[in-house]
Amino acid sequence: MLTVAVLISGAGSNLRALLEAANEPDYPARIVVVGADREADGLAHAEAFGIPWFFVPYAEYPDREAWGEALRDQLAVWQPDLIVLSGLMRLLPASVLEPWAPRIINTHPAYLPEFPGAHGVRDAIAAGTTQTGASVIVVDAGVDTGPILAQERIAVLPGDDEESLHERIKPVERRLLIDVVRRIATGDLDLSSP
Ligand code: GRF
Repeated sequence: MLTVAVLISGAGSNLRALLEAANEPDYPARIVVVGADREADGLAHAEAFGIPWFFVPYAEYPDREAWGEALRDQLAVWQPDLIVLSGLMRLLPASVLEPWAPRIINTHPAYLPEFPGAHGVRDAIAAGTTQTGASVIVVDAGVDTGPILAQERIAVLPGDDEESLHERIKPVERRLLIDVVRRIATGDLDLSSP
């Protein structure tokens, strides 16, 4: 059974979908802990499913490395097989990447390498493009530059704003994420050679 830690910063709707999938008896992975870089609303989903949670408040650390070391120490308690970033709005420092890479994956609301970074949906709207997408990637030291594990195109509709487009992207992200975690758990997907 693959053990998974999920890291969030926000509402955690994608986390919720993964919690529901992992709650199914035939799903080959289970979430053992949920962490956040702040007291994120999404931690309530972990509470609802009886999953341990923690947060390491970024603002209380002098720099990214120190925050990363505290995050690493929390994750080390659970020793997850896989770390899923699902709305974590932080770049992971080397102190977290080194112990777990490449067993860290991230969902991104764009068709990478298009529109990387913290505002992928806003950037797609601003670019006036007719299509964007959702992607699941391996996390590396760059900004959304890791190997792509799954992605799917999503149309940008006339009149879309950032919120309406993002709410249409998220269900696709959730479906891709649930499938990628399943494939990793069954050995169908090897993160060392994706
Ligand atoms: C997701 O679209 C994720 O890809 C992006 O932020 C969003 C998080 O949404 N980084 P939620 O917190 O899961 O609702």
